[in-house]
Amino acid sequence: MIQKDVSALYGDLSGILLSRDVIANRVAELGKTITHDFSGHELVCICILKGAATFFVDLIRNIDLPLHVDYMAISSYERGTQSTGRVRFVKDLDHDVGGRDVLLIEDIIDSGLTLSFLRDHFATLQSRSLSICTLLDKPARRKIQLTPDYVGFTIDDHFVVGYGLDYAETYRNLPDIGVLRPDIYRN
Ligand code: IMP
Ligand code: MG
Repeated sequence: MIQKDVSALYGDLSGILLSRDVIANRVAELGKTITHDFSGHELVCICILKGAATFFVDLIRNIDLPLHVDYMAISSYERGTQSTGRVRFVKDLDHDVGGRDVLLIEDIIDSGLTLSFLRDHFATLQSRSLSICTLLDKPARRKIQLTPDYVGFTIDDHFVVGYGLDYAETYRNLPDIGVLRPDIYRN
């Protein structure tokens, strides 16, 4: 039974796709895998604000390694629910990532345009390695070839909100991930 404790917001969903328990279990598994893969390395976890913030704080607490965190905010010139791939830096990194193993942590990969832009940007920063971890992947909508290293859940082509993901800046505080009713974003 899913607890609907922000009940007015749940009315805008056509259904819950991933409950908080399912998300928590998968985040714990991802943390274990990343802990194993980066053992002995100087890991820097980078949160792509704002959507990934909720996932990020949960994931890093499941990575059992000494690590650094940094935050990057970008604005991706969206048209409605579609990304254009043109990205502007709103907040750059605070620390140099040269020579370090970088793990970019994102909420969702849709067309792939945003992360392919970031991947090209990071290629100029001379990190030791660059890996991508996304909570959600919508491969059906990919416009550019991009395969993340770590994926929480592969989902069908739905517009989803909650657990950090927004529509027009709302719904980020929903503890579960749900499918937004199409009539909400068509109006
Ligand atoms: P991409 O450049 O098309 O891969 O877009 C990635 C960005 O679009 C994500 O970081 C989200 O901010 C946003 N986005 C894509 N799909 C969704 C969705 O279903 N719900 C909420 N935001 C989304
Ligand atoms: Mg985002």
